[in-house]
Amino acid sequence: MAGKSTLTIVKPDAFGGGKAGKIIALLEAKGFTVKAARVLQMTRTQAGEFYAVHRERPFYGELVEFMTSGACMPLVLGREDAVQALRDVIGATDPAEAAAGTVRKLYAESKGRNAIHASDSDENAQREARFFFPETELLFG
Ligand code: RTP
Ligand code: MG
Repeated sequence: MAGKSTLTIVKPDAFGGGKAGKIIALLEAKGFTVKAARVLQMTRTQAGEFYAVHRERPFYGELVEFMTSGACMPLVLGREDAVQALRDVIGATDPAEAAAGTVRKLYAESKGRNAIHASDSDENAQREARFFFPETELLFG
C-alpha cells in the first residue's frame, strides 16, 4: 500500500526568493498537510550525503554547490498516496518540460535551480525524512 508521508525541500533558489509561503499554500491546496518543517543551510557533507545516489552523475558537484548556496526548508508532508501525489504536483525536473500549474512550472528557474525536491519512493521518503527529522520516528508509523 502506498504510504501517507513524503519529504520535500523548498530549495535555496525558491526559499531565498521568498517563495516558500506560496509553495506551501499550493501544496496545502493539493491536499497535503505539514507534519514537520525546519529551515537550515546544508553543509557540503549533508548535501553530498542526501544526494549520494547521484554521486557518479556529471551534475553532482553543481547540485551540492547549489543545495548549500543558501537556506532551504525541508518538510514532511502527509496525504494519501503521498509520494506519487507530490511528484505529480512538483512537475518535471526541467521546468521547461513541467506541466502547467506545477510547482516547478510556476517557480523554478532551470533544471539545476528547480525550486523543490520530492522523494521518489516510500523507502526514500522514510530515509530522507529521518535525515532531517531524526527525532520523529512517529511520522512514518
Ligand atoms: P529531486 O531529486 O531534487 O526531487 O529532483 P528529481 O527527482 O526531479 O531529479 P533527479 O534526477 O533526482 O536529480 C536531482 C537534482 O539534480 C539536479 N539535476 N541537474 N543539470 C542537470 O542535468 C541536472 N539533472 C539533475 C536537479 O536539481 C534535480 O532536481
Ligand atoms: Mg530525485
